[in-house]
Amino acid sequence: MKSYAMGHPLNKLIHGCDYNPDQWLDRPDILSKDIEYMKKAGINEATLGVFSWSAYEPVEGEFHFEWLIEVMDRLYENGISTILATPSGARPVWMDHKYPEVMRVDTMGHRNRHGFRHNHCLSSELFRDKVRIIDSKLAKIAGDHPGLIAWHISNEFGGECFCDLCKEKFRDYLRKRFHNDIDELNREWWSSFWSASYNDFSDIEPPYHNGQNALMALKLEWHRFTTYNYADYISVEIDAIKEASLKKDVPITTNLMQRFYDIDYRELSKRIDFISWDSYPKFHNDYETYEDTMGESAFDHALLRCLKKDKPFFLMESAPAHVNWMDYNKLKRPHVHDQFSCQTVACGSDSIQYFQWRRSRGGAEQFHGAVMDHSGSTDTRVFKDVAHTGEVLKKIAQIEGSVKKNEAAVIFEWDCWWSIDVSGGFSRNTKKYDITCMDHFKSLMPFGVEADVISVNDDFSDYKLIIAPMLFLIRPETIEKMKDYVSNGGILLATYMTGYVNENSLCYEGGFPGNGLKDLFGIINDEIDTLYPSDRNGISMNGETLTVKDYAELLRLIDAEAIGTYIDDFYKDMPAITCKKYGKGKAYYQAARIVNEDMGKLVRLLLSDAGINTKDLPSGIEYHARFTDDCTYEFYFNVGEAPAEVTGLKGTDILNGEVINGNVTILPKRYIILRT
Ligand code: GLA
Ligand code: ZN
Repeated sequence: MKSYAMGHPLNKLIHGCDYNPDQWLDRPDILSKDIEYMKKAGINEATLGVFSWSAYEPVEGEFHFEWLIEVMDRLYENGISTILATPSGARPVWMDHKYPEVMRVDTMGHRNRHGFRHNHCLSSELFRDKVRIIDSKLAKIAGDHPGLIAWHISNEFGGECFCDLCKEKFRDYLRKRFHNDIDELNREWWSSFWSASYNDFSDIEPPYHNGQNALMALKLEWHRFTTYNYADYISVEIDAIKEASLKKDVPITTNLMQRFYDIDYRELSKRIDFISWDSYPKFHNDYETYEDTMGESAFDHALLRCLKKDKPFFLMESAPAHVNWMDYNKLKRPHVHDQFSCQTVACGSDSIQYFQWRRSRGGAEQFHGAVMDHSGSTDTRVFKDVAHTGEVLKKIAQIEGSVKKNEAAVIFEWDCWWSIDVSGGFSRNTKKYDITCMDHFKSLMPFGVEADVISVNDDFSDYKLIIAPMLFLIRPETIEKMKDYVSNGGILLATYMTGYVNENSLCYEGGFPGNGLKDLFGIINDEIDTLYPSDRNGISMNGETLTVKDYAELLRLIDAEAIGTYIDDFYKDMPAITCKKYGKGKAYYQAARIVNEDMGKLVRLLLSDAGINTKDLPSGIEYHARFTDDCTYEFYFNVGEAPAEVTGLKGTDILNGEVINGNVTILPKRYIILRT
């Protein structure tokens, strides 16, 4: 099943890297070795020009693209394609000195000086014009190059600007959003509190650190505005490329990041043709197991993949070795690169790419791992690991274009995340919306069940089980969708902190969960207890105990059944997990945060009600699958510390062609891929 609406860029699995030849233009010896060594490592793609603005336009209006075309030609002649970035990730110094408005203003109202990267004012029309010029020139010169397989817009968008231009744009955005009616805004923002009412839209300021910081709806809307401005800005770049390029069908992406707070990626994703993202898991840390880190990686892939959930995504960057920006930059242990890369493919990626091909001799990332390190040798452990991945990708090439099909989903919403975060109350340290969504996703993995990570706007009817953790901000239309879903036979789990506020962070009246959700779940949540880190409670359910931490709500039953009750404290024996039959389905409510180790006790019940097939996996084995119309690719990873025997396997091991019918023992950090 090929599902690339735009046509798959390569029709093969991509093995690529960020490549910065502009740092080495005076070193032809290095540049010619690069091609030779890329081929040796099985590299078939290079991402060029990510930060090349000052090489393209060293002084305003003077352009140099010869070197780029020369490099693209040479790569192409050697079977290596190009993903071409627009250079807007960092600005040349001349621009900042001549046009200071392009530099960002911080939350205290101070303008940056020139330096660093990713710090432009996206509202500046002047900056946008400069970007249009360089992007159009690039598209004219390189847009129909036969080696070009995709465009990569800018780099890792993020951050906010509090300048006067952004302030004005924010006010215009609010005028539209609130029908040019300041009274409507005041009502919706509850701005009579602490005398915060506005007389006019021109009174409104962004939430400066030293300014209006206590109006929850203002802070929430500022996040939405920031997203809006990024989406608006990326269209400038995309339009410039599409207009100027002779080849209009080259797909366009931008590299996204891990659970990124600043931008609602769903809005940004609408503008691009395929999803790509940069993954840097904190392997071998001292606070969680390797299995946990791999589970986190699986969640992150699912969240990013599901931004366009019926297509494979691209891993645009990963570290072939260590990075240089973590608190502790630990080396990847043997086999980890191999296993992580294959897990990425198992989770739906059609590419493994690296930051970066060759370490720079100087600059901020001179000690960041790269395929080629300062020794210039291909005899290094890291180079051999990368070359091995190149071999693996060739062997498993048939996987390209296959897709994921999941029957379970976890809801993840950016504005819910922001709303929980800006709300007063609970505990600053334990809200952890994103981690909680991840923990629910991970709770399915021991059963061999993968979940999609979806929006409330996605089609619920694709799923037998939906888990909606902490859906604090909820719109009336979502409530109706949930009711339809359950009455048509769906199994839904909602948790503590569901349905507290509307889209403007105004609390629902009449008890939580608000606005009709009480009917669906058959409960009223009267209070929420915030636990100290050392506090524990428990839930007794079907003769088992589930340990509770962080949050516990006190429920009154309307017409749900209490299937679990609190064990301790003054709310002992009160309902903690409830279930209500609603139409053909069931609505479960989990009133307290259950520790990860005990989530399986609840999940088992949900999966069985949903009729989702589970796998009997030994401890330490992580399972994923990809599908075509004709076959399934099953991936088994040993992420534990000991050898593990997987039983009842049937299929062909696509790495060595061996036919398997029975049990296979997988060593730690190794994996098998079966075609069944
Ligand atoms: C990000 C950036 C790269 C590089 C790497 C380092 O992903 O996109 O330019 O800085 O981080 O890990
Ligand atoms: Zn600005």
